[in-house]
Amino acid sequence: MSSSVSREIARAVALLRAGELVAFPTETVYGLGADARNPAALARVFAAKGRPANHPLIVHLHDIRHLDEWAQEIPDSAFALAKAFWPGPLTLILKRASSVSDAVTGGQATVGLRVPDHPVALTFLAAFGSGIAAPSANRHGRISPTTAAHVRDELGSRVSMVLDGGACAVGIESTIVDLSRGLPVLLRPGRIGADQIARVCGQDPAMPAAPDSSPAPRVPGSHAAHYAPATPLRIVTTDGLRDFLDARWQAGHRCAVLAYSQPNPAHSQHLWRTMPAEPAGYAHDLYAAMRDVDATGVRLIVVEALPGSEPWRAIADRLRRAAVGSEEIRDDARH
Ligand code: TXA
Ligand code: MG
Repeated sequence: MSSSVSREIARAVALLRAGELVAFPTETVYGLGADARNPAALARVFAAKGRPANHPLIVHLHDIRHLDEWAQEIPDSAFALAKAFWPGPLTLILKRASSVSDAVTGGQATVGLRVPDHPVALTFLAAFGSGIAAPSANRHGRISPTTAAHVRDELGSRVSMVLDGGACAVGIESTIVDLSRGLPVLLRPGRIGADQIARVCGQDPAMPAAPDSSPAPRVPGSHAAHYAPATPLRIVTTDGLRDFLDARWQAGHRCAVLAYSQPNPAHSQHLWRTMPAEPAGYAHDLYAAMRDVDATGVRLIVVEALPGSEPWRAIADRLRRAAVGSEEIRDDARH
């Protein structure tokens, strides 16, 4: 590692020790990091995000050996999943160790833990030597940041430092599996699919019931409205795309279109983004694309509905929430 990177990491560690916030890259999205053992620093995370204090944070660890400092009564399935997927985009919900504060867990008896797969995050964690609590580094309810510039746009001076690790490889948030209730429950889909979890656990993970629309959801990422751009967003089937867009244009509405199955038809006056036609590339580009088109002042973001197959599931989940999140302001654009 270059000496300038080491200096940056040393500065980041000093800031965390002083109770400040440091955003850092992970393979999924950027995190807004704070010392997970410092309640005052954790309070700053909630203030910076505008996030309700009862929404728990994920604690990031350097490696699996630190698991029992943060969790207790750890089931075998947790070790098996950690061995299979860490470092990687998987968060485990386990019974918390008694030393873990309510500020991290939102007062719950469980804690979310993960070892991220990013060289900057791992170097930062090793140098800090303890857990770093980090939600995605966006304002509450908005799109997660996948570059350092996105973090600055979202949080500005609310964060003391942003470690720049380039664009996040995965691009959507980690898969969350709750192992605190006996059988595994998939709380948030992600790059690591239910099939991969099932193979390691020897049983299919349960899915939570309908998306949680209560005012204080245990998993904010499971709230029906989340990950939303400011511009209304509408999902339209591949077959209906052409007619829908023609009708918008007749009505005088310029739209941004995120389509994967077809390039911009020559006559379209809409702002067209051709997205990758396979899920890994699509996930990688999605949040940056939503941010770009959100900033253009179009009336509506139109997203071509995704295939229904398993590899697309986590991405379709995020898009659905983005559409619901923009619903109140969407009415105007609907007719
Ligand atoms: O990929 C990720 O998971 C990113 C990177 C930065 O690691 N982090 C992230 O954090 O997405 P956040 O806070 O935006 O979403 C984490 C989700 C939240 O929905 C939170 O409620 C849930 O994890 N969570 C954390 N601890 C939990 C717990 N004890 N029980 C249930 N859900 C929990
Ligand atoms: Mg988030």
